[in-house]
Formats: sequence, C-alpha cells, structure tokens
Amino acid sequence: MSETSKPVEKLTVEDAAQELARLAAEIAEHDRRYHGEDAPTISDAEYDALRIRNAEIEAQFPDLVRQDSPTGSVGAPPAEGFAKVRHAVPMLSLAKAYTDQDVVDFLERAKRFFERDKDFDIAFTAEPKIDGLSASLRYENGVFVQGATRGDGTVGEDITANLKTIADIPHRLKGSGWPEAIEIRGEVYMTYAEFQALKERSAAMGGQDYVNPRNTAAGSLRQKDPAVTASRNLKFFAYAWGYTTEDPAPTQYDSVQKFAEWGFKISPLMVRAKSVDELIAQYKLIEAQRSSLGYDIDGVVYKVDQLELQRRWGFVTGEPRWAIAHKFPAEQATTRVRKIDIQVGRTGTLAPVARLDPVTVGGVTVVNVTLHNEDYIKGLDSNGQPIREGNDIRIGDTVVIQRAGDVIPQIVSVVIDKRPPEAEPYQFPHTCPICGSPATREVNEKTGKEDSRRRCTGELICPAQAVEALRHFVSRGAMDIEGLGAENIDLFFNAGLLKTAADVFRLKDRRAEVQQALFERREAQAREREAAKGTARKKVLSAEERTYEGLDKLFAAIDARREPELDRFIFALGIRHIGDTTAALLARTFSTVEEFIRVGKETAAAEDPHTVFPSINGIGDTVIGALIDFFGNERNDAVLDELLEQVHPKPYVVNISAGSTVAGKTVVFTGSLEKMSRGEAKAMAERLGAKVAGSVSAKTDLVVAGPGAGSKLKQAAELGIEVIDEDQWFERIGQGN
Ligand code: IVH
Repeated sequence: MSETSKPVEKLTVEDAAQELARLAAEIAEHDRRYHGEDAPTISDAEYDALRIRNAEIEAQFPDLVRQDSPTGSVGAPPAEGFAKVRHAVPMLSLAKAYTDQDVVDFLERAKRFFERDKDFDIAFTAEPKIDGLSASLRYENGVFVQGATRGDGTVGEDITANLKTIADIPHRLKGSGWPEAIEIRGEVYMTYAEFQALKERSAAMGGQDYVNPRNTAAGSLRQKDPAVTASRNLKFFAYAWGYTTEDPAPTQYDSVQKFAEWGFKISPLMVRAKSVDELIAQYKLIEAQRSSLGYDIDGVVYKVDQLELQRRWGFVTGEPRWAIAHKFPAEQATTRVRKIDIQVGRTGTLAPVARLDPVTVGGVTVVNVTLHNEDYIKGLDSNGQPIREGNDIRIGDTVVIQRAGDVIPQIVSVVIDKRPPEAEPYQFPHTCPICGSPATREVNEKTGKEDSRRRCTGELICPAQAVEALRHFVSRGAMDIEGLGAENIDLFFNAGLLKTAADVFRLKDRRAEVQQALFERREAQAREREAAKGTARKKVLSAEERTYEGLDKLFAAIDARREPELDRFIFALGIRHIGDTTAALLARTFSTVEEFIRVGKETAAAEDPHTVFPSINGIGDTVIGALIDFFGNERNDAVLDELLEQVHPKPYVVNISAGSTVAGKTVVFTGSLEKMSRGEAKAMAERLGAKVAGSVSAKTDLVVAGPGAGSKLKQAAELGIEVIDEDQWFERIGQGN
C-alpha cells in the first residue's frame, strides 16, 4: 500500500502532486479489480484509507486536484451509460403494513424478540415514506465523493455528477463531527409544481409527455448531461445511512437530526414515539397533510430508534426487521377487460394477463393486469373460497382495479351490473399456447391439493420455456453477462444459435452467423425507421459497416463469466423454487459444484431423500422436491455436463466478516440463554456467517451453553467439542464488554 504516510500538513507541493498521481492510479486499479473482475486484492478498509488520504490531500492542495481524480468531482463521465457502484452496505427495502393491526403485530414482534431484556425501553421513529428514488451519497472527510442509485440493492449506478446538481445535496458537510466516511441515504423526488412546470414546458415545445413525478425524477437522474438534471430542480430528503466509520448518534432520531446540522433537508414530519397509539396518531397526521405537501408520499415508515436494538434485531432477506412501511390505502379506478392473453414463463407456468382499456390509477396509466391463475379468474382462492365481489372475470367485464403495495395493479372487484349479456365464463386453455403440449395442474403429493398454476409439460421443447431459461441464465442476478440481454437472446434463439445454456459459451465459434443475425436485425430496424419517415431506403450497408464492432466486446463479456461464483451458477440453472437466497444457501452448504451435483443426484435416486440431503435451515421439502425433479431428469444431466465443459464455477468461500471468528462454523445453542432470546442468538450467529444447528453432532464446531444445559452438553464433551458460555460467546464475536 502507501509507502508515504507523512501527515498531509507536512507534504510539499511536489510530494502532494506525486502522491495524488499514485493514488489516482492505485485507486483506479482497485476499482477495476473490484468492479471489472469482482476480485479485489485489498480489504474495504484499506481501500477506504486510500480514498480518504486522497481526499485529504486534495482538500489541502485544491490546485492539484487531477483530471482523473478518484473523487469523481472533475473526472469525465464514462463513455457509455453509468459506471457501476457496489454499495458497501446493501440498500434494503422495507416490509409493509397495510392495517393498524399490522403495526400492532410489528411492535409485538419487537417485544417478543427482546423478551430477555426485562427493563428495556424501546422507542420508534415515524416519518413519511417519500415516493421517489433512493440514492446513496458517499462523504469522505465531509466531502461528497460519490453518489449512486439503488440499482438492485447491491450494485447501483454512479450518478455523482447528476446528484451534485441537486441543491439539497451539500458538496461539503456543514458543521463538524461527521464520521470519516459515511454513505448518507435518502430519497430524490420531484415536487408537483416542478412536474407541472416541466410538463408545460415540454408540451409547448412538442416534447414528450411525462407520466408522474416519480418516473420523471428517475429519468432526470439518469441523464447523460448533468445540465438537464439541473434544470429539473429535484429535491432530496436524508433519512438513513449505509456504510459509516462511526454511528452518527446512538439513535435513529438523533442521527437524522445530525444530518440536518450537516446541511441536509430532513422531513419535518419525523417524530419519536413509544406506543402503537402514538405511531398511529402520527400516521393519521401525516395522512391528513398528504394532499398539501406538494410531493408524493405513499405511507409512513416506522423504525426502531435505538441503533443498538436495530443491530440486535437485524435483517431478513433484503429487509430490516426493525423497520416497517405503513402504506396508505391504494387508489382505485374502473375500466374494461378487452381480452385475456396467456403468457408462458420460464418454468412453463401459464400466466393469464388481462388487457384493459387504458386507465389512470394514482398517476400511472394501467393497460395490463395479471390474473395470476385459473382459480383467480374464477374468483376463488387456493382453498376454493371466493376472493372478490362479483365473482369471476370475463372478457368484456367492467372491473375495479387498484394499485396496492407500490405499483402492481390488481383487480379488486367486477361490476356485475355492467356485464354484457353475451359474456361467457373464461375457458382457461388446457394446452400450451406456444408449443401445444398439454398444460396440467400438478397435484401436491403431501396435501393432495392441485397447484393453482397450470404448467406446460413441454419443458425445453417449448420455445417459451427454453428462451425464458436462457434469458434467466444470462440475467443480472444470475450469470450476469453484459451485452447479452433478453433481446439478443431472442434473436440468437430464433436464429438457431442458442438452444441450451452451454451454447452461450460456444457463440463465438459461430461468429459469422452471430454477425449475420445482428446485421439483419440492424437492417430491419433501419428499414422500419425509413418506412416510418416515409422515405425509401437508399443504400445498403457496406462490408465495413457490416462488421459488428460490439461483437468482440460481447464475446469478451461471455468469456469473463466462465468462472462464476457458485451461488450465481446454481441460481442461473433456473431450477424451480431456487431463487438467489436459496442458491446461496446451497452454495454455502456444498461449497463446490461437484458436491452440489453429487448430493443432488444421490438425493434424486434415494428412496428417502432425507437420508441423503442434509438438513439446511431455510430449505424445506419444496426445494428438495424441485432438486429431485431437476436431477431426476436425464435431459438435465446432458445439459449440465455440456455446460460444465464450458464453465467452471468457483468454490464458494464464506465471506468472513471483519472480526468474526465464527464464520463457517456450526454452532449449537443450548440451555437457557439470559442475554438474548434463542431467535436472536440464531439470527446473530447467521449474520456472522455461522450455521446454527439444533443438535450436537460430529459436525458441530462450537456449543454455547446457558444454565440448565443437559444432554447436549454431555454429547459435546463426548465428542470433544468446545463449549463456551454466553459471555464468552459475546467476547468471541467481538461484542464483549
Ligand atoms: S428507510 C433500512 N425511510 O422506501 C431502511 N425508506 O421500501 C431503508 N423510502 O428504498 C429505507 N421514504 O427508497 C426509509 N423515510 C424513509 C423512506 C424510505 C421512502 C423508500 C426508499 C426505500 C424504500 C423501501
């Protein structure tokens, strides 16, 4: 790392210039390794130290700030799109509450979780949920160095230059006492007044129409030219933070007050409260002011106030347990069902979609709405109980739709009085509309109940399924192959260049055909454009123009993913019921692809799968059943073999969080714990990368025993397994006092 550790005040101008040059190169190289190759060679803390040093020198020697400065304040924007930014701490979403009872339940859960603290005192904050876009703003030594969109929560886009045009975002923090490095998080939004003004300006110039303030704010943030963003007068409220070198304050409320001292706008409607009644009172107050705020809000967010309690309660997948969004009731509108289309998904599910007369609900035009499945159309839930007024949905029906829980529109009722006399009950197809194979409803062996979804039995002979499987395979959360989006997959599939996942990696052997397919599409698009303009197409592309310059890039992007992380690879296979979280659990359990396949096949062949498949917390019979289906199908054997000739998934390495000595260990908690509940202990251990087991076996690494521990203690002694008490546990994980 840095050979110069002279204090910044002691640097000469020459020293400083030299060091800034070296830091720019070094940081750029680490960025490349981190983002380009996913293979960082230094820790986050070391990386931070480099950036902080750079920012300190720049602050001392403003004249020396380089064109290629890593702070991004002068650097040129990337040529294409925006650079990716990996959030040091993921940007989460929030669990939702729709009724007062949901809020009561939230507080009950909190109480239950902290049951062991007899005299603890829990408080909450309540504040508006702003309907905009979240952004993460990184400050180093008080200087705004990088701003990013939420993206998928893990990786966002670098929109620093655009965020810098927002007046509510300080370029330098005011006051003092800010952490050395902190990611301030909050919401970028557009006021109604700005939205209206923009609409009018645009209409006057014959420009595009804007749908709603939120989408417009999103579009404004993704402008190539920051001057355009600046003209939109976006606003920002700070309400949370991600990575930080120290807590802003001991509570949520006081931390956000600090943000105000540092120069941010914070919501004037944020309060601290102690009871359900107080929280609901604030909800009512905010709801009453909703229409006069001048910007969209869609609910009220409650958060546990004490940061210490937030940390103890922790997270479930993608959501903090310690916060919840209490949504305002959804808005409704009435429209007509024009027709019902059936789409076929990746796993062969026949998904009915109603095509509607366009209608505006809550500021968004809705033309499609999912009808979920056959029973839903009939107006029945999975237990055969009626789900809506006015029973079944027919083509020609007038329906009431609403946008609930964010953006997904739903049909809430059918207006029977307006049903045309000739409207017949909808006949759900029993064959796949794409490949003609029978579409059946599976019967769950255990419950004897029919699956609510009808599925095409054609599997990979069904083009819809094959194409969807390929799209999924290359998608962002899966193999993440840049430049090979859904459009190109469709193109190559239709050109016969892609059938299975392995073909993706053999595309470059068919370079000429790939080029031809891309060329034909380009020609077709050009013809369409000409036709639209009403002019005849004059010239044919020359041979040079025919060489598709993106091709080498595409092949390089494909090659770059030949050694995927194991969890991504498992997820990419598109096995039913195996989402990214489950894929990660499987990867963590089996470590290598060979072991995963071996256990999968043995499980599929076993009479009783449970004698083979290990018990994994979070993986139940549905997933095991899906693995059995997958590995029990010979066709998949061939697909996998071929694929593994092309790609070599990296063994899964547990991410050992700093200071965590229990990562990768199997821990058993026994006896009565006094400082934490059992649920809390488990959550804490899992957060640190440990596996928590219910019983002691040869695989156990550590037993944490409270008073009254019995047989498990004896077993541990017999097996020679280390036993520690609760205090030692806290010391071990670096939280002892
Ligand atoms: S807190 C760890 N507070 O809601 C908690 N989020 O559904 C992170 N949002 O992506 C979020 N207003 O874009 C929080 N006062 C508020 C919010 C808020 C709006 C958005 C945010 C987030 C989404 C989660």
